[in-house]
Amino acid sequence: MISPSLVWPAGLSVQDFLADTWQQRPMKMPAALAGFRSPLSADELAGLACDEGVESRLVKHKDGVWSLRNGPFEESELEQLEISDWSLLVQDVEKHLPELAQILDPFRFLPSWRMDDLMISCAAPGGSVGPHVDAYDVFLVQAQGSRRWQWDSKARDHHGRENSELSLVDSFTPDEEWITQPGDVLYLPPGVAHFGVAMPDEELCMTYSIGFRAPSCSEMFQDLASRMAESPGSGFSNPRYSDPGIGLNEAADGLISPAALARVRNMLGQALAMDDQALAAWFGSMLTEPKAWLQPLPNEEDINPSQLLDLLGKGRVLRRHGMALWAHWQANDKVMLFIDGRSIDLDQELVPLVRDLCSHRDLNLDIATLRNSPSAAKLLTDLVNAGELELDDE
Ligand code: SIN
Ligand code: CO
Repeated sequence: MISPSLVWPAGLSVQDFLADTWQQRPMKMPAALAGFRSPLSADELAGLACDEGVESRLVKHKDGVWSLRNGPFEESELEQLEISDWSLLVQDVEKHLPELAQILDPFRFLPSWRMDDLMISCAAPGGSVGPHVDAYDVFLVQAQGSRRWQWDSKARDHHGRENSELSLVDSFTPDEEWITQPGDVLYLPPGVAHFGVAMPDEELCMTYSIGFRAPSCSEMFQDLASRMAESPGSGFSNPRYSDPGIGLNEAADGLISPAALARVRNMLGQALAMDDQALAAWFGSMLTEPKAWLQPLPNEEDINPSQLLDLLGKGRVLRRHGMALWAHWQANDKVMLFIDGRSIDLDQELVPLVRDLCSHRDLNLDIATLRNSPSAAKLLTDLVNAGELELDDE
């Protein structure tokens, strides 16, 4: 459906991009995915936007006023949209339609856990989400029709947004413009104000956004704190404030003394001074924590490893559930698999399987090898029972 790699602008390599552009400046990539056309029709996208459990938005503007409504939508509402000035956006499309996950493949020169989702927008002429800034890197792939992008290549502090949900910038002063056609890709790092407007065309404008994620310190602290509280002793130390040897001079009228501050700093430092294994166990679990409405459901009836081997022997294939999130960590003789917010410690011999699980939707399993590896068969069985792997017919 799509070429597995991007065609970089003449003279550039992926290494050049990572060294000089990624997270630093916008880049136009004309025909980087030449031949790419939206595999999803505008009607199919609209259908998704009507489903419960799918995050979608409809942005309209009239006479300079922007309005935003969150889905799910009624079919009738989408059918009655005007002929211009609206944009319908759907998040996490690759999780709802896993066959579209391969659209992320050309971007796998970056860690898969840095990718957030595939968002697809469909817009009538003039449709847009307004001039705004995003907190994340994004590759904007034109998939149908055309869109005029404008952006401000100078780094600015964008304060005073007039509409917090749309993150609109109040004074947008673009100094770059590009009209993208299907197959063109525009890379934008976080913080660059941009404005993409659908052009009049035979077809509606469809843009695929491959968005990245970057947890903030407060999100990390919040997650770490809740995991510390949930599982005390699992590699985290969770001491309480203590003050042996406290001085009498510290008791004056609500004073927070320099010594008290030093104890707090020391205590927080110690809590974060976990070893790599504990840090990885937390970070991997946090990264793979699914959104509440995007979780695989456990299998209705558990199977055991020998049943799984039988089914695979009969030609059934194992595939990752589209919503399951995977990552792994490896050091010396240890490997940890992270799946949907939990970590599983595994033997070194399972490293190839773990890598396979973390990189492809369809697993490359060799039944003979599996029959000789009870730990591999058990891991796969557990993942099937948890709903994170699915048994398909072909
Ligand atoms: C869009 O596809 O209309 C929005 C993409 C963006 O500007 O982030
Ligand atoms: Co944006």
